[in-house]
Amino acid sequence: MAFPHLSEVLKILDGALKSNATMSTNYAGLLADKLEQAGEREEAARIRERLARAPTAIAHAQDAARGTFGLPVDSDSRLETIDESRPAKDSIRLHLSGGTAARIGDFLESVRHYDQLRAAKAASPLRLLIFGQPGTGKTQTARWVASELQLPLLTVRCDTLISSLLGQTSKNLRRVFDHAEQRPCVLFLDEFDALGSARGNERDVGELQRVVIALLQNIDALPENVIVIAASNHEKLLDPAIWRRFPFQISMPLPDPALRDDMWTTLLGQYAPADLDWNTLIDKSAGASGALIEQIVLDTKRKAILNAKPQIDKSELFRRLALALALAQGRSIASIGDEVRWLRDWDAKAFSIRELARLYNISTRQINHLIRGDHGDEGKYTRAR
Ligand SMILES: Nc1ncnc2c1ncn2[C@@H]1O[C@H](COP(=O)(O)OP(=O)(O)OP(=O)(O)O)[C@@H](O)[C@H]1O
Ligand SMILES: [Mg+2]
Repeated sequence: MAFPHLSEVLKILDGALKSNATMSTNYAGLLADKLEQAGEREEAARIRERLARAPTAIAHAQDAARGTFGLPVDSDSRLETIDESRPAKDSIRLHLSGGTAARIGDFLESVRHYDQLRAAKAASPLRLLIFGQPGTGKTQTARWVASELQLPLLTVRCDTLISSLLGQTSKNLRRVFDHAEQRPCVLFLDEFDALGSARGNERDVGELQRVVIALLQNIDALPENVIVIAASNHEKLLDPAIWRRFPFQISMPLPDPALRDDMWTTLLGQYAPADLDWNTLIDKSAGASGALIEQIVLDTKRKAILNAKPQIDKSELFRRLALALALAQGRSIASIGDEVRWLRDWDAKAFSIRELARLYNISTRQINHLIRGDHGDEGKYTRAR
């Protein structure tokens, strides 16, 4: 393409025309970075030298006059509605199945080659919607994308936005989108359903409808090359009008066997029990989310370290897994008797009477009592966790 950095130059021009020095300097900085990456060191240095001379006091005064100084704040609670982070490249560990990784790769390619695609009239707005059950890595994926693109991640707390006075929400939204437009960044609308599901909510329908409309207008008003990622647990609650605004859509499923294998292996590392049957672990953890697997590893690893053990106890690992899955399925496990009976149900072979007695540090006779649910035994046994 004739001029590879046209989009940055146009942004710098936009900033100048709107008397928005922050926007101009931000994009000039990005242009310098891109030139440097392309080997144009001298040009990059000249831009940076110019930036160093920029009258920052004037830029800040302009920003303050427009009320966009610093991060946008919810005028009701005074809480910052945006959280800014800069995840360093290669600092985020993300486990993805092949299909999901390929789709995220497509999105990254579209971002990186936006100008070229746009010139050929083949660009889609850079909008990615990630949906899936809790703990499947949606937030982690947004952080990873920002780290790969080496851009700051501006996370919008949709709950703060919505919990502010409803009448103010539209104004807050405007501020957030204004802020994102002024600088190279990834705008991340986390827990997006808090805004998007507004129509089905029990609150004042008319007021909430306005929020949805304001959201759609804000998305539409944003230049197509501003990167927006939204994450939602409840894709069914999202308005179809919102879906249409996101040409890139990725579902984050619960991890499949290959992904579980990958997660257990990396997370357990040298703490993996020596006698572990990996296939059983992979089979038995069907239905567990990435977050659940991570939590089980952390809990069991901590226990091993505090007990000065070089490895995690195998039965302890399976016990935690079984209990976490029971909780995720909504089973109530209140007493130690419930625990023992559930473990027997879950895998009678792994949790033999003898093994349970060792694990709970009580006699096999007492375990038998618990399994039978003998009255009065429930409260007798306590166990350090
Ligand atoms: N696919 C994954 N790759 C890497 N880490 C993961 C993955 N899935 C879950 N995790 C880990 O689990 C934890 C929760 O993940 P994350 O916050 O991304 O989930 P989420 O899908 O955003 O959940 P929620 O819907 O509850 O917000 C993180 O600490 C993350 O490290
Ligand atoms: Mg999340």
